[in-house]
Amino acid sequence: MLDKINALLQEVEQMKAANAEELEALRIKYLSKKGEIAALMNDFRNVAADQKREVGKHLNQLKETTQNRINELKASFENVQTINDDIDLTRTAYPIELGTRHPLSLVKKEICDIFGRLGFSIAEGPEIEDDWHVFSSLNFAEDHPARDMQDTFFIQHNPDVLLRTHTSSVQTRVMEKQQPPIRIICPGRVYRNEAISYRAHCFFHQVEALYVDKNVSFADLKQALLFFAKEMFSPETKIRLRPSYFPFTEPSAEMDISCNICGGKGCPFCKGTGWVEILGCGMVDPNVLENCGIDSKVYSGYALGMGIERITNLKYQVKDLRMFSENDIRFLRQFESAN
Ligand code: DAH
Repeated sequence: MLDKINALLQEVEQMKAANAEELEALRIKYLSKKGEIAALMNDFRNVAADQKREVGKHLNQLKETTQNRINELKASFENVQTINDDIDLTRTAYPIELGTRHPLSLVKKEICDIFGRLGFSIAEGPEIEDDWHVFSSLNFAEDHPARDMQDTFFIQHNPDVLLRTHTSSVQTRVMEKQQPPIRIICPGRVYRNEAISYRAHCFFHQVEALYVDKNVSFADLKQALLFFAKEMFSPETKIRLRPSYFPFTEPSAEMDISCNICGGKGCPFCKGTGWVEILGCGMVDPNVLENCGIDSKVYSGYALGMGIERITNLKYQVKDLRMFSENDIRFLRQFESAN
């Protein structure tokens, strides 16, 4: 009897079925009431009592193996069937639509690349800030009217938790941690409490640059600005500096470039003047250096800040600021070739 069981076990382990009908025939052959295993079970009655335990064990094993093998074959048919039903492996793949960079990201990258070529590296800071980093450290005295230059969003009525109104806050963050030489470019989003219109938004983007070292002069600032303007717009671009005021720089200036739309002849865009304003800049106020633990008798520096939207408007003549945040795919597609 044991020989018979072993012979059947070998058969079962090697059994194959090409389709469901063949498999059903195998099931009937081995597992049905009149099948081979049932017949063995019948014969089991005649096995000598002292062998029943051993033979019974093998018999059960045979039954289990047969059932498992049949289930296995059945599952393989079922899998093949679902694959055939649901997936056409010969079909060509759907094309994956590539996205494009947002125009503001493109311009941000270009600005950072230009300053990167002058040795500046990127620094970033938090958008939720405190009064020290956005105002006090930058020489905005408490209750100084200069704080009204930028309408601030405060968080939970706490005057010490606010959304940064400019990326100049990153200057302080870096200078507090690092001694000169410092040469950083800080891109980021800023927030101001302003009514949204085609020319103003409650959030926008800025890039701040800061250079602090021994003997940094206004001439260095001018040279960096001229290089930037020519690289960003065209080699023919001219710059001019007008005296201005910022609490954190002394002296301060605003920079105009020759209008890149009319080439300086005068057009509606530059209101007939031939010049457009693009950024603020100046020599870092010694108070700011001292606030951050840098010796203003040893070191000097320049800083500049510009709006990325403003530069993008000039470069691509986008007339409505709101376009940048509406995510209208027809607008964004127009920048595909610039990517
Ligand atoms: N933080 C100024 C603003 O948001 C921009 C600015 C002006 C930054 C002059 C500077 C600077 O670093 O020197 O309007």
